[in-house]
Amino acid sequence: MTSKVLICYGSRYGTTTEVVQEMAKTAEDLGVKVNTVFLKKEKPPSSFDEYDLVIIGSGIQAGRWTKEPLNFIKNNIDSLSRTKVALFVVCAYADDPEKRDEAQTLFLDNIIEQYPGLLPISNALIGGAFDFDKYNFAVRALVKNMVSRKLPPGEEMPEKIDFRDWDQIRHWITELVSSVAF
Ligand SMILES: Cc1cc2nc3c(=O)[nH]c(=O)nc-3n(C[C@H](O)[C@H](O)[C@H](O)COP(=O)(O)O)c2cc1C
Repeated sequence: MTSKVLICYGSRYGTTTEVVQEMAKTAEDLGVKVNTVFLKKEKPPSSFDEYDLVIIGSGIQAGRWTKEPLNFIKNNIDSLSRTKVALFVVCAYADDPEKRDEAQTLFLDNIIEQYPGLLPISNALIGGAFDFDKYNFAVRALVKNMVSRKLPPGEEMPEKIDFRDWDQIRHWITELVSSVAF
């Protein structure tokens, strides 16, 4: 029987959507059926009985998950506690050796602790991207200020900084679906 995976996620600027698309494509290439739900615009299924795995993730903004996937966890904690679950976040700190551990604690371990019953079989910290074209004036100024402190002196600010490691993303989803599907 074909295995089924559900990916429910939140994204503010589209980076996480692209990560989810790559996860879905990778899993589908392995013969798994994947449903993706962008929780801000789409309704998740009312039951997860038909799924072998539910993956929940979010882009991080100002130290927080987007609200929809957190609400999704809160509203479905009973069903999720009877389902195989994996979590991921997409964030800038994932690529910063000084911040990576903090990001793991704040954006993943603390969320898992907050919801007893949620027992993810895996979780992943995934590098994000800054795409200045997508931000309004205030956000662009804020992020440029934050990023400029990390640039070597004299280096010009690029219009896009992409920390996403596509090999890591494909490796994570491959291991994950292999562990539940075959
Ligand atoms: C206003 C703003 C605030 C951010 N705050 C954080 C943060 O606190 N920690 C972090 O690791 N990344 C932070 N980031 C980086 C985002 O997590 C990264 O851009 C990610 O790719 C966003 O995902 P999305 O495009 O799906 O919304 C921030 C980005 C923006 C634009």
